[in-house]
Amino acid sequence: MSKFKKALLCSIAPMLVAGMLGVTTQAVASGERLYGRFTNDNELYAPRDYREWVFIGSNVTPNDMNDGAAAFPEFHNVYIDPGSYAHWKKTGEFRSGTVIVKELASIGTKEAPSGHGYFQGEFGGIAAMVKDAKRYPDKPGNWAYFGFSADSRHGAIQEESACSACHQQNAGQDQVFTQFYPVLRAAKP
Ligand code: HEC
Repeated sequence: MSKFKKALLCSIAPMLVAGMLGVTTQAVASGERLYGRFTNDNELYAPRDYREWVFIGSNVTPNDMNDGAAAFPEFHNVYIDPGSYAHWKKTGEFRSGTVIVKELASIGTKEAPSGHGYFQGEFGGIAAMVKDAKRYPDKPGNWAYFGFSADSRHGAIQEESACSACHQQNAGQDQVFTQFYPVLRAAKP
């Protein structure tokens, strides 16, 4: 290799590396990284790392406040992907690409040193909703809903009537129950 080539490489290589690093950091910093993996039919694979996302709240609808027969008698621990949380903080909107996971946790004990109450027991299943204008152009608000059975890695899009109708009718903003998530309300610009 000629001296000239060596010199050229030495000066270009670090620039290339810095350039690549710069792009990566910028994409993450501006919240552009997308979460969620999909089958060819645009079904969501069961998210795995959601407990490292942003925790937005935990609602509980216990049996003993619902005539012994609540639809979901567990805690509902809800997480939003970090990229979409960053976008929410900037704009107050759910971006195309938003993934929200609700993980069920049973009610364990109702007694703790702090007093009587509801305390989380064991994890149950998960459900999720995804907003994506490209994947779901015909769904209301571009939201698709997924339920996961314990043995399936990707979800089934549920009947519109089963999930979407209730969310459309009752949720605070864009089919998400923002009225129950002070974390989201506090972060909204
Ligand atoms: C009868 C109304 C109703 C139906 C039907 C319903 N949900 Fe929900 N969903 C709620 C309410 C209310 C909350 C927030 C409070 C809670 O968790 O209890 C919620 C919360 C969620 C959340 C967390 C984000 C948010 O918007 O609060 C996800 C994800 C979710 N539901 C998915 C689903 C899926 C998937 C289905 C269908 C299998 C479904 N829901 C059916 C009422 C409903």
